[in-house]
Amino acid sequence: MQLIATCLFGLEAVVSRELKMLGYDDQQVVDGRVVFSSSLSAVCESNIWLRSAERILLKVGDFSAVTFDELFIGTESLPWQEYIPSDGEFPVEVSSINSRLASVPDCQSIIKKAVVEKLKKKYKTDWFEESGSKYKIVAMLLKDKVTLAFDTSGTGLHKRGYRDLMGAAPLKETLAAAMIMISRWKWDRMLIDPMCGSGTIPIEAAMIGLNIAPGLNRRFAAEEWHFIPKEMWIMSREKALSLGQKDRELRIQASDIDEDSVRLTRYHAQRAGLENEIHIQKLPVSEISSRYKYGFIITNPPYGERVGDPRELSALYKEMGRVFSGFDTWSYYILNSNMEFEKFFGRRADKKRKLYNGGLLCNYYQYFGPVPPRDVTENF
Ligand SMILES: C[S@@+](CC[C@H](N)C(=O)[O-])C[C@H]1O[C@@H](n2cnc3c(N)ncnc32)[C@H](O)[C@@H]1O
Repeated sequence: MQLIATCLFGLEAVVSRELKMLGYDDQQVVDGRVVFSSSLSAVCESNIWLRSAERILLKVGDFSAVTFDELFIGTESLPWQEYIPSDGEFPVEVSSINSRLASVPDCQSIIKKAVVEKLKKKYKTDWFEESGSKYKIVAMLLKDKVTLAFDTSGTGLHKRGYRDLMGAAPLKETLAAAMIMISRWKWDRMLIDPMCGSGTIPIEAAMIGLNIAPGLNRRFAAEEWHFIPKEMWIMSREKALSLGQKDRELRIQASDIDEDSVRLTRYHAQRAGLENEIHIQKLPVSEISSRYKYGFIITNPPYGERVGDPRELSALYKEMGRVFSGFDTWSYYILNSNMEFEKFFGRRADKKRKLYNGGLLCNYYQYFGPVPPRDVTENF
């Protein structure tokens, strides 16, 4: 069986690393996706555990198609009847990139017709009520190659369940988690997000720190599917629960200049059951401090596109540069779409990585601090 973990462009290597940590070594990385081989239980495990992936798809098959006939024949040849029961609902979602079959509505109706034809043969009926569980078919056309799959996740994996109110420009939970994993922050190190907004970065960090599976408290589309035993989900959840490290003492600070943001962060942390893991306060970035010699600042300041007056932003970035330079033994990681950020910040990043935030091209500016000496156990 092949599964596909879809992700934001730029995060493929992060998803791949997460999958390797779960033991899925047989992988193929392509733009925006990691295809991996697995058994059925991986549907449960990957949905429950992956922090940086958007969805988990169950691949049904792939083929090349440049005409609608080829699309119909290729689709009809796949074993849909093995997955979709007679009352199953099977909407079709299509994306087409650099392919001759570019009309999404046409592809959608052809794929639907082909699946119906296949099911008619098995169920000996002309009419499907589609009143049962949902088996959403995802069709991805890329350079004339068609990949057909089922969406096992349902709601996107960024929806962990704790964030139900919107801040001014919240990060997707998947992106925030990826930013933390890219930084290689570990639970016993200090972490500050001095512009926390709705709290996504500190909350994702606390979940990583305590090894809490991000999908533990939500449902997935494939939980309703007849060919995945309910016990498989129960066992995967029980195992995930048992791997949590609730006793760890984390050192995570979240602050923001805005009172509403501070309240929102506190509310979301409570909903995630993590209010005791994060120290939250109202504070301008200019006043952050720490008694620890080593640590991480991971943050997502305003960009101007969505939050903040562009004229004030250069002053804010300068201020960040001044304040962070006082944390000269720390590492900092800053996501920003302003291509002149480094100029205002006053220091070139050691490494940059292109990431997309809500479709907006950003740089993830990475500034590496020194590695703490091995014998430092108290002060980092
Ligand atoms: C892009 S938002 C952060 C969004 C956040 N990562 C989330 O997921 O919700 C930027 C935040 O920076 C805060 N901010 C702006 N200027 C600040 C300053 N001088 N000091 C501290 N926070 C500031 C804003 O109040 C806003 O909440």
